[in-house]
Amino acid sequence: MANPSLLILAGDGIGPEVMAEVRKVIDWFGANRNLAFDVSEDLIGGAAYDAHGVPLSDETMARAQEVDAVLLGAVGGPDYDNLDFSLKPERGLLRIRKEMDLYANLRPAQCFDALADFSSLKPEVVGGLDVMIVRELTSGVYFGEPRGIHKEGNERVGINTQRYTESEIARVARSAFELARRRDNRVCSMEKANVMESGVLWREVVTEVHAAEYSDVELSHMYADAGAMQLTRWPKQFDVIVTDNLFGDLLSDLAAMLTGSLGMLPSASLGAPMANGRPKALYEPVHGSAPDIMGQGKANPIACILSFAMALRYSFDQGDEATRLEKAVEAVLADGLRTADLIGEEGRSPVSTSEMGDAIIAKLAESV
Ligand code: IPM
Ligand code: MG
Repeated sequence: MANPSLLILAGDGIGPEVMAEVRKVIDWFGANRNLAFDVSEDLIGGAAYDAHGVPLSDETMARAQEVDAVLLGAVGGPDYDNLDFSLKPERGLLRIRKEMDLYANLRPAQCFDALADFSSLKPEVVGGLDVMIVRELTSGVYFGEPRGIHKEGNERVGINTQRYTESEIARVARSAFELARRRDNRVCSMEKANVMESGVLWREVVTEVHAAEYSDVELSHMYADAGAMQLTRWPKQFDVIVTDNLFGDLLSDLAAMLTGSLGMLPSASLGAPMANGRPKALYEPVHGSAPDIMGQGKANPIACILSFAMALRYSFDQGDEATRLEKAVEAVLADGLRTADLIGEEGRSPVSTSEMGDAIIAKLAESV
């Protein structure tokens, strides 16, 4: 049988640096675990704009539709700030999410023991934290029509539209309930049903899907603003949180910071199953392209490496190998290795991006 295929879109800023470490990890699994992938690379974001004048070419989009999984680095940078809105690097990312119909964005917020002291919250509040945010990714105010900026009389008006259909809400709710069944069996749904009709519908549909198909799972509801407050007050009350595109964007950055560093967190964006049974899938770190530190060996490759672990688990049914990789990351942190983003007051000296990658490979080697 042919090897499963991976398309790497490293993107901009620190994307290529962290992806170079992921390449080492992929190669290690090929050489040592009989898990070889056919890897190809292409451009997205500013890099694609520089080469083709668009943030994602039709050719790259078509390739992404054909592979078993896409691994993405990060997009964006100051060179592209003044481009027309439709050409900005972020539009490439939004296009690929939308056209692959990756409606369920899984963003785990897990606090590694070795980093509990590094969070801005008290260690007892975050130690052992393991929350999964499921963010709807292909609809809502990110994509709703009408949108735009137009003139009314002598002033400009900016418009975006929050729009959700029943089926869009139902499918992401199912993803959250399915995940909860494999975790602590609890889902909290967040919206603003007190002020938004789309929130009223969200709550109704989640409740209906729950009653009809998932009544064994514990379901609660929260207004998203109160949810943000509860996430900082006592985050361990949550297991799976399901929410819309914009609230999910905000809440996942907030949850990320509970764990100490945005440089630690992976994500999976999943769509409907393909003909081979695997879901359409894209894996990317939650962090951005960090142009201020690019090219200096300061970037933390862990979020991108853990995104590959999610690919092993959710696309390739290799949960044990995913756990092996996650344990290797944990072991390296327990040894005290830290990239620059994880250095606090204590005066340790940081390791570089590639030293971190090499240390993880060494732990993998010890694990077999
Ligand atoms: C994210 C990012 C993106 C988003 C940007 C880069 C378009 O913030 O993945 O969370 O808003 O979805
Ligand atoms: Mg974001």
